[in-house]
Amino acid sequence: MNKIAIIYISTHHNNTQRLVASCDNVDIYKFNEIQDIDLTKYDLVGFASGIYFGKFHKAIYEIINNHLSQLHNIFLVYTSGSGLKSYGKKQSKKLRQLGLNVITFYSCKGYDTYGPWKLFGGVAKNHPNDIDINNYRLFIDKLVDLEL
Ligand SMILES: Cc1cc2nc3c(=O)[nH]c(=O)nc-3n(C[C@H](O)[C@H](O)[C@H](O)COP(=O)(O)O)c2cc1C
Repeated sequence: MNKIAIIYISTHHNNTQRLVASCDNVDIYKFNEIQDIDLTKYDLVGFASGIYFGKFHKAIYEIINNHLSQLHNIFLVYTSGSGLKSYGKKQSKKLRQLGLNVITFYSCKGYDTYGPWKLFGGVAKNHPNDIDINNYRLFIDKLVDLEL
């Protein structure tokens, strides 16, 4: 059984926070609690955020860059208005170039009212929904049992 931590930041509609808070078999930390965490006691560390202009929140990259020596096996979780998987693929590649073992990522849509979308009542309304949350729980269950 792997011990898992997730560090998250969720600034737009708390979409990512709702998603990560739905699992109680992982330790969940807000990005600004990083100084209180001993990352080395975890088998796997997840980083979760909304997607802002095609990327994770910059706080996530800062934390990763500042803790590279304590990180090895990581995974990514994100919500985005579009639901595109390409964000996860691109960011995984970028983080692998830092020497990290990015095992996998989970993504789903998240309610988005940024910019012009606001005029139309937003996109991805009601996401993350029950199906997104259920799929996320299954994703985490697999990681808990994953042989590393
Ligand atoms: C400033 C800003 C930029 C965004 N850029 C993108 C984007 O490039 N692609 C996308 O699919 N969604 C984009 N979104 C939508 C968010 O990724 C989506 O609403 C996400 O669920 C927000 O997560 P949060 O509520 O946890 O912050 C953007 C939202 C904001 C506020």
